[in-house]
Amino acid sequence: MLKPHRVKERRPRARSTEKPTIGEAPTSFFMAWRDIAFWIRSARADAALAKLRARMGLRESFNQLYRSMRDPWGATSQRYRYQKQKYQGLLSILPNREYDNVLDVGCGLGALARWLTPHARQILGIDISDEAITEARRMSRGLTNVRYLQADIYDFQAQGQVFDLIVLADVLYYLAPLNECTLKLLIEKIARLLSPGGLLLLTNHYFFKIDRASRTTSLLHDFFCRSPWLIRVAEYARAFYLATLMERIKDSEN
Ligand SMILES: C[S@@+](CC[C@H](N)C(=O)[O-])C[C@H]1O[C@@H](n2cnc3c(N)ncnc32)[C@H](O)[C@@H]1O
Repeated sequence: MLKPHRVKERRPRARSTEKPTIGEAPTSFFMAWRDIAFWIRSARADAALAKLRARMGLRESFNQLYRSMRDPWGATSQRYRYQKQKYQGLLSILPNREYDNVLDVGCGLGALARWLTPHARQILGIDISDEAITEARRMSRGLTNVRYLQADIYDFQAQGQVFDLIVLADVLYYLAPLNECTLKLLIEKIARLLSPGGLLLLTNHYFFKIDRASRTTSLLHDFFCRSPWLIRVAEYARAFYLATLMERIKDSEN
């Protein structure tokens, strides 16, 4: 299990987060009934997934979930505003530059990848679910700089490519198994996929350390930042996510 290990100095060391950023941060978050319905829907999706995982493998359980709910976490829904606000918030954290090669790990239906298309030369979204990938491709028709691939991040082979931006949005909690050992492997893998000076944007559920999952999110993000390859450059706690931006240390600094 992950051992609690507090990072004493949480102030990010400014390296590459030059202003302005590529998006406007949403200024308000208004909770209406339909937003509350979003959380109920997401909780239902997680419960359905847990049941499926007890009966079948990881890939098939995600496939089954996407087949039965199409958009389990309301990523593309016009009805619920949370996800759109989250994607805009994430964009507002990224330094304003043209990204060359972006990797969206666990891209789901490709919603965040599509938000990134005006800011990148090319984007690759990978997801363990074939169903999600098929739908992401369908929803991205006409966009020439985004492509999708069914792949488990643990097995993903980049064929020598490196990325100057990798995003991992609400994926960690869905990886299995997730323990200290697999997390170390994942971090090393991500670090190897990043070009020197490349950025990793990590986001997970967070509600100001009030609930247990929020505290786990803090521990997970700190774990990434303590790796020998990554340095935290910025961190934002928003309702209801924590977003941490890290930079890949250049090998000579390692
Ligand atoms: C909650 S969704 C997040 C989707 C998207 N990142 C977003 O923010 O809208 C989690 C996604 O992670 C994918 N996933 C889970 N385990 C994975 C793995 N080992 N490799 C790649 N994708 C994975 C699932 O299929 C699912 O689409």
